[in-house]
Amino acid sequence: MKKIPVWFDCDTGVDDAIALLVLRQLDELEVIGVSTVAGNVELEKTTENTLRVLDLCKAPYPVYRGASRPMVRDQITAAAVHGEDGLGGIVLPPASRGVEAAAAWDALYQAARAYAGELVLVAVGPLTNVGLTLTKYKDFPGLLKRVVIMGGAAVGGNTSPAAEFNIFADPEAAAMLFDAGVQVAMCGLDMTMKAYLTAEELDALGDTGTRQARFARACLQRALAYELSLKLPGISLHDPSAVMYAVDDSMFKTHPAWVRVETKGKITYGKTVTDLYSDKKKEPRDHLVVVDVDREAFKARLFELFDRYRA
Ligand code: BDR
Ligand code: CA
Repeated sequence: MKKIPVWFDCDTGVDDAIALLVLRQLDELEVIGVSTVAGNVELEKTTENTLRVLDLCKAPYPVYRGASRPMVRDQITAAAVHGEDGLGGIVLPPASRGVEAAAAWDALYQAARAYAGELVLVAVGPLTNVGLTLTKYKDFPGLLKRVVIMGGAAVGGNTSPAAEFNIFADPEAAAMLFDAGVQVAMCGLDMTMKAYLTAEELDALGDTGTRQARFARACLQRALAYELSLKLPGISLHDPSAVMYAVDDSMFKTHPAWVRVETKGKITYGKTVTDLYSDKKKEPRDHLVVVDVDREAFKARLFELFDRYRA
């Protein structure tokens, strides 16, 4: 089986951490590099968290430090959900290694050139590193096979009434990506909030007993409590569901659509505007909006991937 070369960009973060643990077990993928960005917490923390989680799953992927600030707007974080440390207060041993010398945008571009026409970019944080790569390297979009993001929503938002966190944290960067001429598969809240585990299911995952599963249960507790306080049914696994989509879309429902990002609106700043549910269709309908997931299949796959840590 020929593996899919993947670049993973993240702002680790509790669900990014689970996405890294999932990524590690997906034999279909060859992870070429991982880049970090400021988002859920500050860059130094997202970078150290990424390295620590990669130690936890013995993943030797090279890690590149990315942007510490959004392209234009003031920085925001989501520490209220992920904890001040970004890992829900769960302290992993200090990382055994540091980052590579190259900056994220240079390394990502070099990977895109080395795997021209093949590289799949999976980005699950604010899109600052991607925006900077697009700014610096004009041929970058044409080198990518596809882009999968966790971000946005056709309907609603979790950071403002109109906007999802990853897009709201850097709308100008996100706008550049949706305008770049490469297809973006948008794993937004429409789908990712259906990819949840109830408290009992998360307990059952932890009970499988591996270090990785026990870490997953522990680090998600704070975010779970936050989501339950909003009367949601469980903890949404936003970033892991986007990673799973990148490998196999068979358990997901996806529609082609026109999607662009609002960067001027006072109330709608950071909204991913799509014609998906509109009578007014717009050309080009060049992106994909992932709207649904078979939760039972998602859960089964998640447990199966974590079971591999028993070996
Ligand atoms: C997204 O925002 C972050 O808090 C999560 O890690 C996820 O990528 C959900 O809106
Ligand atoms: Ca994230």
